[in-house]
Amino acid sequence: MSSTVAAPKGLQDVVANESSICFIDGAKGILSYRGIDIHELAQKSTFEETTYLLWNGALPTSGDLATFTSHLAAARVLSDDVVSFLHRLPKTASPMEVLRTTVSLLSLYDEDERSDSHEANMRKSFRLTSQIPMIVAVFDRIRKGKEVVQADPSLSHAANFLWMLNGGCPSDTATKALDVALVLHADHELNASTFAARVIAATLSDMHSAITGAIGALKGPLHGGANEAVMHMLYNIEKTGEDPVDFVRNMLATKQKISGFGHRVYTTEDPRATHLRRMSEDLGKDANPKWYEMSRKIELFVKQEKKLNANVDFYSASTYTTLGIDIDLFTPIFALSRISGWCAHVIEQHDDNRLIRPRAEYTGPAYPAPYIPITDRK
Ligand SMILES: CC(C)(COP(=O)(O)OP(=O)(O)OC[C@H]1O[C@@H](n2cnc3c(N)ncnc32)[C@H](O)[C@@H]1OP(=O)(O)O)[C@@H](O)C(=O)NCCC(=O)NCCS
Repeated sequence: MSSTVAAPKGLQDVVANESSICFIDGAKGILSYRGIDIHELAQKSTFEETTYLLWNGALPTSGDLATFTSHLAAARVLSDDVVSFLHRLPKTASPMEVLRTTVSLLSLYDEDERSDSHEANMRKSFRLTSQIPMIVAVFDRIRKGKEVVQADPSLSHAANFLWMLNGGCPSDTATKALDVALVLHADHELNASTFAARVIAATLSDMHSAITGAIGALKGPLHGGANEAVMHMLYNIEKTGEDPVDFVRNMLATKQKISGFGHRVYTTEDPRATHLRRMSEDLGKDANPKWYEMSRKIELFVKQEKKLNANVDFYSASTYTTLGIDIDLFTPIFALSRISGWCAHVIEQHDDNRLIRPRAEYTGPAYPAPYIPITDRK
């Protein structure tokens, strides 16, 4: 008989470890980084400042922030080998798979590859945070047959990504919208990809291995991949010319899940969705309101029919599309924000480590099962 206690399926509501990084109250719709409410951070902070907060536990002084920002900008370096690797990849490869594979490759060129000290992890965090957007932008340029754009250290994290992606100076509106989206996505406690990163780090494996695993977890449509699935649905609705509500009603009738709805932790509105809904609406007013309007109809219907709330991914889709970003870059953009949270968690794990090794409730044949010689097997 097993002495273990069966955990709920999918580890729902299981508290797996202590962390001082992110606090969520799913019933009240509260999300905070180091205790500071996400609504306040979304309105007042920047990705750089939020990342400082996540890594250091407190908001920076203006001097601290200037130093931190210049370290991030100075870390915008990809070795020639990495760029030529990106050139050799199939142009049809999915950017998320390219990102996962290239982050793994980065460790071979990282000068701190053999150290997992706190200081080495901090240096790796700066590099990874700056390199991930570069990989996404450089691969996108290469696959479109365009020239690679060099990083601009004078630009913010968000602006530099848009600059390297589009090869032109980004508008203040686009930069601000992306920066807010990056703040909103930066951390989310023990979500699937962060948990994956911590499990890997807890074996005392290195940060690049942990982040590679996290990117693999983020890619799935039940996690970060949902933002791309939402946009595919919106495009499908447009293509068929069907009414959005009828389209979604049919999905529900055929027991399909609607991407961008539901959450394991929030039982009320996902506080990140509040901001993304507003951004989608505001950006739509200036450009094309159709994606916001379609999304809003779907949201109201799903809420009424299934009592499900839109999550962070639902309005990210229309927001990014209105900013002119390709669908298959949506989840990589999630990664280029969440890298800050992943790094904070890997550092926290390594700083006070214990192997993460849960148990399974065994449901196989009763022990001891007979070993039947191969000649007697039917
Ligand atoms: C996020 C998610 C994976 C959470 O999953 P979970 O906590 O395991 O919840 P479940 O999948 O068990 O769903 C519970 C119930 O709500 C329903 N449900 C949950 N999300 C749904 C959705 N997006 N569309 C339709 N029904 C949904 C399930 O069908 C299930 O109903 P049932 O009890 O009648 O079978 C889930 O809501 C989902 O798949 N959402 C779509 C993908 C997505 O947007 N992911 C990004 C999350 S930020």
